[in-house]
Amino acid sequence: MRRILVTSALPYANGSVHLGHLLEHIQTDIWVRFQRMRGHECIYVCADDTHGTATMLLAEQEGVGEEALIDRLHAEHLADFERFGISYNNYYSTHSDENQYFSNLIYTRLRDRGFVYTKDVEQLYDPERKMFLADRNVRGDCPRCGASNQPGDNCDSCGATYDARELKNPVSAISNATPILRNSDHYFVDLPKFTDFLREYIHNGSQQPEVANKLTEWIDGGLRGWDISRDAPYFGFPIPDADDKYFYVWMDAPIGYLASFKNWCTKNDVDFDEFWRADSTCEVHHFIGKDIINFHCLFWPSVLHHSDFRTPTKVHVHGMLTMNGEQMSKSRGTFVLASTYLDYFDPDYLRYYLAARLAPNSADLDLGSEDFVSRVNSDLVGKLVNIASRSEGFLAKHFDNTLASELAEPELWQEFVDEEERIAAWYEEGDTRRVVRRVMELADKCNQYLANKAPWQLIKDENRRDEVQGICSMGINLYRILIAYLKPIVPSLTQRSEEFLNAGDLTWENATQPLLSHRLNKFGRLLNRIELKTFNAMIEAGAQNTAVEDDSTSESESPHIEIDDFLNRASRGG
Ligand code: 2FM
Ligand code: ZN
Repeated sequence: MRRILVTSALPYANGSVHLGHLLEHIQTDIWVRFQRMRGHECIYVCADDTHGTATMLLAEQEGVGEEALIDRLHAEHLADFERFGISYNNYYSTHSDENQYFSNLIYTRLRDRGFVYTKDVEQLYDPERKMFLADRNVRGDCPRCGASNQPGDNCDSCGATYDARELKNPVSAISNATPILRNSDHYFVDLPKFTDFLREYIHNGSQQPEVANKLTEWIDGGLRGWDISRDAPYFGFPIPDADDKYFYVWMDAPIGYLASFKNWCTKNDVDFDEFWRADSTCEVHHFIGKDIINFHCLFWPSVLHHSDFRTPTKVHVHGMLTMNGEQMSKSRGTFVLASTYLDYFDPDYLRYYLAARLAPNSADLDLGSEDFVSRVNSDLVGKLVNIASRSEGFLAKHFDNTLASELAEPELWQEFVDEEERIAAWYEEGDTRRVVRRVMELADKCNQYLANKAPWQLIKDENRRDEVQGICSMGINLYRILIAYLKPIVPSLTQRSEEFLNAGDLTWENATQPLLSHRLNKFGRLLNRIELKTFNAMIEAGAQNTAVEDDSTSESESPHIEIDDFLNRASRGG
């Protein structure tokens, strides 16, 4: 049995769960459910990413304290994810005692080993609010083309990238005051010192090939110190030996993985160190989007390794979700919240659709209205569920809902069983696109078999009724093995199928044993067809829900490495 710890990136506690989050949490959950179905110990933890200026400003805007705000969002996030069947063992918060403990521990270890230095930094400062301004909190005229009202890091009009201090006529987006320049000491992790370590780490099998290439480019270009401090006022953990300085949210966010797991270990009497000591033989898998590989594949392994923790076994990186070919955006009205989706569709449809598109690379992935509707209707309902519904009718009506005592077509059955290893290998790699494609080919084969045998004709012939029982029992057994192969992807459809099949929970092992002389339960509706107009209504509702919000919820301030280049390349090539 493998011992595996799995994480999804921690959602910010300053907005609602949307389809972009779901892509990642569904991808992770499928992998987790697969590992558990195979009998491995697989612990899945996540948390809300609570700290930073954005949380502080939102709390202020809502007239509540930060802790009240993050408590409300925590409950909301967890409820949304659970309704999509995301099976966390623990969904915690970065604003926790465990996280403060590990943040301090890691920081002091790095500091005591000479990996932290301080440097004077000049930044724009809001004299009214008495706070330093992050790039996204400043607007001004582009220093290159002069376009007005541009953000503090790049120009939407001419594409120039610059330092916020270069903006002409800068204005604080928080108070509208004119910012002044001000200096303060910042704490930096000395990333360049980890260069040799990183060169080796990124080629140890922990990275997807296209990610390793990008990381190599960044390393070859020379790493820079990593700014891990922010000045007060800031919602975060104070840096232990500093005066009124706080850990930057991206310092304690990944440490939140340790904290959430530690919290779970305490509640379940599991030894945390077994998983996290430097020579651990357990596995750690992170699932993230390609926009945050710098934090997870350069900073995080370096920090872990140099503070006596093990490094991640594997970082699974996915691309961004687009909607009908366009980036999901609140201003374009293509931004659908998890709760909006649930007003219209069963979670399994989205799980299935995304699985059908996910491959082990970071290429972007499109959710197209018509494609979504047709995949659900033609694959899930038309091909798969159809096998069960067309077979069970005859069994219920003529054979007391009981399956035949032997397999009518052992060779056909064996063909389906023989796919087991290949399908398992695809799951392991994260190639669910292949899993789905193969399962649907098998479903076609089964439907073909039923069409050729035409039990609806045979039943009319008194002397051939036994054959009908054999054929329909094949149908049910083949349906059962196919639904087992898809179980990690469509958990609620599987659960309804398990009830109908009346043989307990499907496991990877028992799925390859046919049910013989076995009585089924009464058949209930397994899945409904959907309509394009419902999808369009969902998008419409999504646009209305989000019309008043803006797009600036990200805390990923310019990461000092050129990530856009990677984003563009990965979306083109994969
Ligand atoms: O990009 C984001 O949404 C971050 N909140 C992800 C943090 S992941 C981890 F490092 F905590
Ligand atoms: Zn410009």
